[in-house]
Amino acid sequence: MDKPLRYILVGTGGFGGYWCSGVLPRLGQLGKAQAVAAVDINPQAMKNAQQHLKLPADRCYTDIKRAFDDNQADFAIVVVPPAFHEAVVDQALGHGMDILSEKPIADSMAGCCRIYKKVKVAGRKMAVTMSHRFDQDKQSLEAAVKSGKYGPLHYVVHRFTYNLRKFASWGKFRHEIPDPLLIEGTVHHFDILRAISGSNAKTVYAVTWNPPWGEYAGDSTALITMVMENGVKCLYEGAKANASTLNGWGQDYIRTECRDGTLVLNRRWLRVLRGGAGRPLAEDMPLLEQPVWTNPWLAEMFCDWLAGGPQPPNHLDDNIQCAALLFAAIESAHTGRIVDVQGFLAANAAAV
Ligand SMILES: NC(=O)c1ccc[n+]([C@@H]2O[C@H](COP(=O)([O-])OP(=O)(O)OC[C@H]3O[C@@H](n4cnc5c(N)ncnc54)[C@H](O)[C@@H]3O)[C@@H](O)[C@H]2O)c1
Repeated sequence: MDKPLRYILVGTGGFGGYWCSGVLPRLGQLGKAQAVAAVDINPQAMKNAQQHLKLPADRCYTDIKRAFDDNQADFAIVVVPPAFHEAVVDQALGHGMDILSEKPIADSMAGCCRIYKKVKVAGRKMAVTMSHRFDQDKQSLEAAVKSGKYGPLHYVVHRFTYNLRKFASWGKFRHEIPDPLLIEGTVHHFDILRAISGSNAKTVYAVTWNPPWGEYAGDSTALITMVMENGVKCLYEGAKANASTLNGWGQDYIRTECRDGTLVLNRRWLRVLRGGAGRPLAEDMPLLEQPVWTNPWLAEMFCDWLAGGPQPPNHLDDNIQCAALLFAAIESAHTGRIVDVQGFLAANAAAV
């Protein structure tokens, strides 16, 4: 067996705590990768890396530059808020490392395009962990649509609505940044819609706002329509300040209208509906099975890629399309206009 790859984890608190306890130990058990250092500006967060990744205290750093200068590694894992992703990418590329980053690539389209260009110029590999598209329920729905059994898909409706209206109930920084729903939530749903429709976006029109009872500095609520390049239409409802949580994380409502079947995913229950007036005939569909989903699966695919295996589906060239849809939707929300997503991406890429 090849020697395990070595990585530096940046961000060990918040979601980084889950990476330490629920994602990375498995890579060690599989003999695929092991930690050589961890970084967090908050020393309190180091305990996660020490406990779960068995790192000694002197391999846990608050100074990112020291961590990268002192330790040789094959790749960096980025689990800090999006505004800080680029600084970590710069360190990783400066030290000849590949990158596995949390979403979104960065907190602006210009930042995403800069990172994209830097990674390409350096000739490194980068993937972005879009956990929800790679969850069991969404993968099952995507496979059913793509099986062709239900005929061509013509439109998709997606709902994600929450009661997380109190300050800091969705993690403090999300209540302070602009466009928190889209940047931190809808980016996942855009990726899911791209995957299910089998296409990148052509145009997007977004209306976003924050109701008076939502304790957010930016917009917590959105209604969005998209036309994909292959003609599939998508309608999305997202909310973080509702009175109830109808479809939270991992509990999405997604309805795909195919010519010969209406496929409904609701809170991990997948069914196909058919029939005319009155009660349609509904048939339950079993979800796909495999050992792990979401980030543990993505982390494993990334290591296999670095070891010479196939490129995983969440690689940077795929994910830049997700970023383009995200920031084109924000542009639409801010201007009130329909945005041409591919033109928006091309203009931003040309500007860096
Ligand atoms: N399911 C998902 O896909 C999912 C869920 C949650 C978070 N995330 C992503 O994970 C990333 C981190 O989010 P979070 O909720 O953990 O944020 P967070 O605010 O909880 O911060 C995570 C950790 O990063 C540290 N940190 C902040 N700035 C840093 C810097 N410049 N250098 C080093 N450490 C720094 C913090 O001290 C904290 O311990 C984001 O990109 C977010 O979108 C993804």
